[in-house]
Amino acid sequence: MKIAVLREIRQGESRVAATPETVKKLINLGCSVSIENDAGKLSNFSNEMYVNSGAEISNTVSETLNEAKIILKVSCPICSSDIDEVDLFPEESILIANLQAYSNPKVVSKLAERKISAFAMELMPRITRAQSMDILSSQSNLSGYKAVVEASSVFNGAMPMMMTAAGTIPPARVLVFGAGVAGLQAIATAKRLGAVVLATDVRYAAKEQVESLGGKFIVVDEEAMKAAETEGGYAREMSQEFKNKQAEAVGKEVIKSDIIITTALIPGRDAPTLITSELISKMKSGSVIVDLAVEAGGNVEGSVKDKVITTEDGVIIIGYSNMPSLLSRDASSLFGRNILNFMNLIVDKDTHSLNINWDDEIIKGTLVTRNNIITNANLKK
Ligand code: NAI
Repeated sequence: MKIAVLREIRQGESRVAATPETVKKLINLGCSVSIENDAGKLSNFSNEMYVNSGAEISNTVSETLNEAKIILKVSCPICSSDIDEVDLFPEESILIANLQAYSNPKVVSKLAERKISAFAMELMPRITRAQSMDILSSQSNLSGYKAVVEASSVFNGAMPMMMTAAGTIPPARVLVFGAGVAGLQAIATAKRLGAVVLATDVRYAAKEQVESLGGKFIVVDEEAMKAAETEGGYAREMSQEFKNKQAEAVGKEVIKSDIIITTALIPGRDAPTLITSELISKMKSGSVIVDLAVEAGGNVEGSVKDKVITTEDGVIIIGYSNMPSLLSRDASSLFGRNILNFMNLIVDKDTHSLNINWDDEIIKGTLVTRNNIITNANLKK
């Protein structure tokens, strides 16, 4: 059974869906692996490393995909008038990728047309058994870390308190919006660098997690926050009354902050606007905001996707939409392992053939197309 690993062609995507380490394990599962030339180059995995792991290097996309049963990709394939990756996929093959299916309905339709069974890894159910396959967690964790590192590198001050013969420098104040996977890693990273860290979330359950990392949690409305978590562990959209209270409670901390990291997302909806331009105009010159929700519309008024801007008042707003790609080696390693763990679920180790239990919660949760049909209810017209 042949697996094809394509070179990512979306702008700004430096990751690769399989690493030399995971290739070796995929081959142990009984698969052959074809890597498109230089697919791992931007993650510092050379063709030679893949060959040493047992893969074959293919010079063109068509050669890589020829007779492939399974296609591994990081990001959603491109289907435009200039280039159509899906057209090249063998009919009835399997695609495993971070499809961002809800934002790419045209690609999903095209995948169904070509009878591809497509698994959208971003739709992995948040259940214990699926944790090792959860790309959102593995990549968000790195985003949270990198957001703090990026912010501290443009911040015009030091992160820790420094007591020197020339006087004392106070520690930086860092405020994190959203204490999910990315937010908690941002808190942990900022604490390690010596900053004073505050955080807020709409889910009350996040309080204990923030405090266990040494952060101070800002409570807005305890009762409303206790009801804010869905069964899946995600946040609900909050009432306008709550949003007003939140703005008041958190607003004074925003003004005092040196660095703000926003990570607040609500599945299936636009990200909530949490920091207005008016509030930003009251922040200190030189303060830095990283909007990790920029791709979903942003938590910060004025943040621009993939740009760093400085407001008239000197506040720097970073809007990188693909933070994990800036740590492509480690991000690919974790992404590749998530995919390998998913492959272990769908390949029979003894017969070395596909054995998909279509009733499995993980399969049902991630499958978006099969046999000409869009299987995901949210994507059906
Ligand atoms: P996410 O990326 O959807 O959202 C990030 C954070 O923003 C969340 O903590 C959310 O509560 C918060 N948020 C939403 N609206 C907000 C607002 N208006 N103001 C402030 N904060 C707001 O969430 P993520 O990081 O994917 O995690 C969601 C939950 O899933 C967490 O409880 C996490 O512990 C849980 N989880 C469970 C896993 C498992 O069991 N396999 C794996 C990963 C996460």
